[in-house]
Amino acid sequence: MTVTYAERLQGFDWSLAEKDLGIRRGDPLNIGWHCSDRLCELGLARKPALIWEDHTGESHTYTFDDVRRYSDAIAAHLLSVGLKPGDRICLFMDRLAELYIGFLGVLKMGGIVQPLFSAFGEDSLWTRLDNAGTAAVITQMKHVKKVRRIKERLPQLRHIFVVDGAGQALKAPETALAMRELPRPAGFKVHPTTAETPSVLHYTSGTTGQPKGAQHVHYSIVSQYLTAKWVLDLRPDDIYWCNADPGWVTGTSYGIIGPWANGVTQVVLDAGFNAEAWYRFMAKHRVTVWYSAPTAIRLLMRDGNELVRRFDLSSLRHLCSVGEPLNAEAVIWSQEVFGKPFHDTFWQTETGCIVITNFPGMKVKPGSMGRPFPGITATVVDPATGEPRTGPGQVGVIALRPGWPSQIRGYWNNPEGYRKKFVNGWYLCGDRASIDPDGYFWFVGRDDDVINTGGHLVGPFEIESALLEHPAVAESAAVATPDKVNMEVVKAFVALKPGYEPDDDLELEIMNFIRKKLSPLAMPQSIEFVDSLPKTRSGKIIRRILRAQEFGEPVGDISTLMND
Ligand code: PRX
Repeated sequence: MTVTYAERLQGFDWSLAEKDLGIRRGDPLNIGWHCSDRLCELGLARKPALIWEDHTGESHTYTFDDVRRYSDAIAAHLLSVGLKPGDRICLFMDRLAELYIGFLGVLKMGGIVQPLFSAFGEDSLWTRLDNAGTAAVITQMKHVKKVRRIKERLPQLRHIFVVDGAGQALKAPETALAMRELPRPAGFKVHPTTAETPSVLHYTSGTTGQPKGAQHVHYSIVSQYLTAKWVLDLRPDDIYWCNADPGWVTGTSYGIIGPWANGVTQVVLDAGFNAEAWYRFMAKHRVTVWYSAPTAIRLLMRDGNELVRRFDLSSLRHLCSVGEPLNAEAVIWSQEVFGKPFHDTFWQTETGCIVITNFPGMKVKPGSMGRPFPGITATVVDPATGEPRTGPGQVGVIALRPGWPSQIRGYWNNPEGYRKKFVNGWYLCGDRASIDPDGYFWFVGRDDDVINTGGHLVGPFEIESALLEHPAVAESAAVATPDKVNMEVVKAFVALKPGYEPDDDLELEIMNFIRKKLSPLAMPQSIEFVDSLPKTRSGKIIRRILRAQEFGEPVGDISTLMND
């Protein structure tokens, strides 16, 4: 029987999770060990941990014992070539089994694992590897070329491992790293990391500057374990699917750590979106819990109810969503076709775990994000003063009291950037919302210029910097423009250098230039050529005016901006 939200709140303490996980304060704590060795010790060695499948239908099952052995072998190998605890080690590949198991391997040798989305182009990759001072990249043949092209500009990068590189033409310092062929390390000891040892470094975009490295620690497992258990409602016999890529935080917090800390079997589909293939995959594996995102749901809706009814999806017990506002229509549609609603969950790279959510069994108000997870103190505040704005109809910025286990400990090499996120003792999420009399949070919008496309945050600064590298571009601004499926997509405003004339060919050329340098997500879906861009007196481009125009919103008072 489902335990109610009110019951969960009663006497809540995070130590509940520590007890379940057998964590004692002061003892070593390692996520890699918790997600594999511990489960084998608990008798789950033969239980499937990962059922992996690719777009051709080729499938492979890894037990928790396989995950334990292979992650040990990867960890031992990384140490054997001279990599050290604390080194940043990047995983840059599609959703291969090596990504999930390698993630634990890096943690087991005490490294800081830096997963990066495999669709990133050279510039996006370089910015993040350079900022982190990454010592090694683990990649695959398909993506190694991008690493090759930037490695001269990355003096700290000493190793490039290619998981499918055996028998292939590799160029030093590349070496093949075949997980299954590695020797079984006798007596390998997991590095004795502690609760506060850095674990995962996820890069996330803000309004200003290049992306920031959000620094998680091993203690995050406490929140990730409990939220996966209570919000995703994971139970021992579940077959769980999180369709997020581990290049983003959902794919690690709830695509690796949360479910495996719970000893739950997960399925992974290493393929792009295809409604029919997704339904077939869920029906074939009898998926019971599915964690998805509004853009994916809208894409499924677009393909119609006829298609979904062709598959037996009766195994589905619980559905959750994250990353963008879950529109009421999507909740209603899911109720119609799956017989159950999607439960919205709100959180961020920086929070590491779900912080506001619709609990299983809680009344779902379509369009609302639900209520704070027990142990999370959340409200909405005036971002300038940090004073709560919770009166009827008031909108404020979502604010959290610091101190939950998976809160990041800072931005990599950027303490000032992190300090700026706090006002009056609150951590500010940068999202505007209101709270109704029942304590439900209603999302209103971002409080900054970050673009949320299909649930992925894209920073305007990164796009604008890349645009300026194009020979024709004199000035640029990147803003969000509304989109039916992705909620928002990137639109660029470009002023050309003398001698260049705007036309369709140039627009296409610039779009592709960004796709290649950054990623398909960051690629502007349209470019508007303008003579000049709105600026403050000090010459800073005011994106807010352009964005407001795109959304048909009032521009508001810009006199303060003009005085900058
Ligand atoms: O703007 C909010 C939006 O995604 C941001 C966090 O993005 P990221 O750090 O990449 O992490 C994404 C996955 C946790 C938030 O600041 N967001 C996330 N969940 C929701 C949401 N917006 C509306 N509703 C949500 N449920």
